[in-house]
Amino acid sequence: MLLEVESIHTFYGLSHILFGVSLEVDRGEIVCLLGRNGAGKSTTMKSIMGLTPPRQGTVRFDGVEITGEKPFRVARRGIGFVPDDRRVFADLTVGENLEISQRKPREGDAGWDRDRVYDFFPALKAIDRRRAGFLSGGEQQMLTIARALVTQPKLLLLDEPTEGLAPLIVEMLADGIEKLRDAGLTVLLAEQNQSVALRLSSRVYIIDNGSIKYSGSVDDLRSDAAMRRRYLAV
Ligand SMILES: Nc1ncnc2c1ncn2[C@@H]1O[C@H](COP(=O)(O)OP(=O)(O)O)[C@@H](O)[C@H]1O
Ligand SMILES: [Mg+2]
Repeated sequence: MLLEVESIHTFYGLSHILFGVSLEVDRGEIVCLLGRNGAGKSTTMKSIMGLTPPRQGTVRFDGVEITGEKPFRVARRGIGFVPDDRRVFADLTVGENLEISQRKPREGDAGWDRDRVYDFFPALKAIDRRRAGFLSGGEQQMLTIARALVTQPKLLLLDEPTEGLAPLIVEMLADGIEKLRDAGLTVLLAEQNQSVALRLSSRVYIIDNGSIKYSGSVDDLRSDAAMRRRYLAV
C-alpha cells in the first residue's frame, strides 16, 4: 500500500472530530472518501498532510511512518495536496503559476511539466498567458491540480474538486482526472458528489460524523441504494 491511515483521532482544540479513521490507497488507484458536508473529509486529508496532526493513530506513506510530520516534509515525500480553497497566485499568469511550482522529477517519477499537464487539461493551455486572478472557478480548479502535478507527487489528495462547479465544467474536470488515472496517478479523492465518485474511483470509503461507515468497491456501492441513502446527501 502506498498510503496507510490507521485508526487516527484528530481534534480541533477540545473538539474530537475524527474517531479512529482507517483507510488505504494502493499505487495506481483512485480511492474516494465520500461523505456529506461536515463529515470529516477535509480533516482526514489535513491529518495526512500534518496540518492537523492526529493525536492517536498512524499515517504511513510508502512504508514510512509520517504521523505528525510538518506539512512541507510530507509534501516533499511526494504527497500533493489540492485543498478545497482553489487558491492560485492571482497576479501571475497560468503558465507562471506552473513555472514557480515546478520541481525537478526524481528518478522514477512520472515527470510532469507544463506541456504534459496541458495535454491533460487542454483548457489550461488555451489560457496560458491569462492572469490567474481572472480565471473561472473551473479553470482555477484545473490550475490548482496542474500546479500540484508539477511538484511530481506520488499521491495526490484532491479535496472536493467539483464542488460548486457547473455540470459542464464538472464533466471537463472529471475527464481530466480520468486521464490522470489512466496514466497511473494515485489519488485520494474527497467528494460529496456521488456520480463523480462512482465514475472515477475503484474503491470507496464513506465517512460520517468522523468515522468510516462503509468501505467497498464502487460496484458494491452502486448496488447498495440503502447505504447511499443513509449516509449521502440526496
Ligand atoms: N478549524 C476548525 N475548527 C473547529 N472545527 C472545525 C474546523 N474545521 C472543521 N471543523 C469541524 O469538523 C467537522 C468536520 O469538518 P470537515 O473535515 O471540514 O468536513 P468535510 O470536509 O467532510 O465537509 C465539522 O463538524 C466541522 O464543523
Ligand atoms: Mg471539506
